[in-house]
Amino acid sequence: AQLDTLAKAKGWKYFGSATDNGELSDAPYVEILSKNTEFGQITPSNSQKWDATEPDHGTFTFEKGDVITAFAAKNKQMLRFTGGSWTNETLTAVMKNHIKEVMTHYKGQCYAWDVVNEAFEEDGRYRDSIFHKIIGPEYIPIAFAEAALHDDQAKLYYNDYNIENAGGKSTAALNVVKDLKARGIKIDGVGMQAHFIVGSTPDLKAQTANLEAFVKEGVEVAYTELDIRHSSLPPSAAALTKQSDDYVNTINACLAVEQCVGVTIWDYTDKYSWVPSTFPGAGDALLYDKDLKPKAAYHAVVAAL
Ligand code: XIL
Repeated sequence: AQLDTLAKAKGWKYFGSATDNGELSDAPYVEILSKNTEFGQITPSNSQKWDATEPDHGTFTFEKGDVITAFAAKNKQMLRFTGGSWTNETLTAVMKNHIKEVMTHYKGQCYAWDVVNEAFEEDGRYRDSIFHKIIGPEYIPIAFAEAALHDDQAKLYYNDYNIENAGGKSTAALNVVKDLKARGIKIDGVGMQAHFIVGSTPDLKAQTANLEAFVKEGVEVAYTELDIRHSSLPPSAAALTKQSDDYVNTINACLAVEQCVGVTIWDYTDKYSWVPSTFPGAGDALLYDKDLKPKAAYHAVVAAL
């Protein structure tokens, strides 16, 4: 049995992978990615972001996103999409317009949108983004309220990294949920990116308790960008075993919480991982190796599901 089939039998909505347009000309890669028994959901790692869909103010390009959408439709896979001198009024208008255009274009086709991604610093202070600088903290509720207008079927998520266990950032994300709920603004889920390092992932209890803290506020949760990188290469035999254990830990956390709807790995193969270019010297973070062969961690995940 394969990842998505196993995950669905456990009550998840999907087991997914990120992918990108450039990778879709790699026939052996595509053969595996197209199997919806393996991957029931895909996330475009870049082609759905602001700079890709609105490269110039008011000019929208959906070509690359449409290729991903068509790929998912053909293979019966669910989609997750992820979202770069202003005045408050102009930036608010631009932000609302961007949300309206991209959500309207893909209306009815996407399971979940990350409406706001990475809004906070580790200690829970707001990140110094253009949105926070110009609009202030209110940009988050404004973005969710706008998103709620344009696709009633899409789940609206807040998404971030280092919110996989309790801490300043996780509390800040929790406060977003509480604030929006209290004000009657639609928020449906919180995504834990989970870009982890072998040997330093939060333990099962910590991850489960953290998921439950969000669920208690009335949202669903998902692991949206899971990868677990080795910090030095090649990994030792012990490090490979540890990587399998770390993957299983996160899979088990999602299994333990009924409202955890699924896990998406941030591409499925080391061949197309973002890790080596972003964290020089680190890598081998995924379930398939560079030759598209399942690794020990893959078999450990299958056994856990
Ligand atoms: C990454 C992509 O994988 C890369 O190709 C790109 O160069 C940078 O962005 N957290 C996120 C994702 O929210 O959007 C990031 O994706 C990985 C970290």
